[in-house]
Amino acid sequence: MKILNIVGARPNFVKIAPIMEAYKAYPDIEPILVHTGQHYDKKMSDSFFETLGIPDPDVHLGIGSGSHAAQTAAIMVAFEPIVLEHKPDALLVVGDVNSTVACSLVATKLHVPVIHVEAGLRSHDRGMPEEVNRIVTDAISSMLFCTEESGVDNLRKEGVPDEKIFFTGNVMIDTLVKQQKKLGGLTTLEDLGVQAGGYGLLTLHRPSNVDDPEVFARILDALEVIQQDLPLLFPMHPRTRNNMQAGRFGERIQKMTNLRLLDPLDYLGFLHLMSASKVVLTDSGGIQEETTYLKVPCITIRENTERPITCEIGSNQLVGTQTERILEAYQHVHQGTLRAPQVPPLWDGRAAERIVAAIHGALSSPA
Ligand code: UD1
Repeated sequence: MKILNIVGARPNFVKIAPIMEAYKAYPDIEPILVHTGQHYDKKMSDSFFETLGIPDPDVHLGIGSGSHAAQTAAIMVAFEPIVLEHKPDALLVVGDVNSTVACSLVATKLHVPVIHVEAGLRSHDRGMPEEVNRIVTDAISSMLFCTEESGVDNLRKEGVPDEKIFFTGNVMIDTLVKQQKKLGGLTTLEDLGVQAGGYGLLTLHRPSNVDDPEVFARILDALEVIQQDLPLLFPMHPRTRNNMQAGRFGERIQKMTNLRLLDPLDYLGFLHLMSASKVVLTDSGGIQEETTYLKVPCITIRENTERPITCEIGSNQLVGTQTERILEAYQHVHQGTLRAPQVPPLWDGRAAERIVAAIHGALSSPA
């Protein structure tokens, strides 16, 4: 059973690691790993392979950055001959990035069944590129693995038959559970001169936040107030850094003496900082899940979330981008008035085992 597996961007690496590991229990599965090259900086890519023990990619497409059309099209053109050469029994994709949808389209047109891990999540906002990627990928997938029950419900509403849907848990949490054991010996906090519970962690990279100067300004208004109360660490995504350098925000950010800009961190360094922070402010998808597992308060600076379980029972507050709402949410953290969070069902470190067992079963039985 030959399975092609796709990674492209940073969150994909975190999700594929436990799946590559789980394949090892099945000697009759031959996994082939393809890196599209969507993310290529050492800090955005290579460091994750090393830390998470992901095998070197068998194929590297070296695509790099571009507009959505240029990037998606370049991946498709480069990936088609790989499918033709390997003639896989299935294609496995994770998440919702451009690499996910590009490779799914190529495979399905060559009659290779597509397996989507992290299926069914919906923000119901088609202005988000990821939402379009999710809808298209799910529509052409044969096996759809969900992290939370909202994913199962969304797929049913879209008419996906029950036999294609699997509720198996969260592979991103598999990686967290495994890597958490390594945090003991790290000196990340000392190196940055912060103490557990004495700082907040900030990430912002969504185009809707950092490409729109008005929205970015509203967020900065809130950060300006918060950093006067609590030091904030801000590892910066290249998109945000490029925008800051090109726009007029650089000077404003520099003036916030308690807001510290950092380069993108490696997986363990970031996990360490996240685990010990008083609050995380973010517009990421995965960080909403990781903070929920860690029970660290999270303020999500977005109008919607495709991961509602993190707000329903987890430690996440979805607040939008209005200054006042962000500050209100921060007050709840500051005053300790948040309800006790819970970890969602099946976020137990064993999702990849369940996924690979289901794939093995499906590929072993005659169609
Ligand atoms: C992509 C995903 C997003 C995910 C994010 C995680 C899509 C549509 N978006 O967004 O869902 O949350 O990854 O990081 O697939 N750049 C570098 N070095 C790199 C990679 C990017 O400098 O290694 C810069 C380039 O200027 C590039 C920009 O960042 O144009 C954006 O990169 P891109 O992969 O297009 O999208 P992300 O914003 O990273």
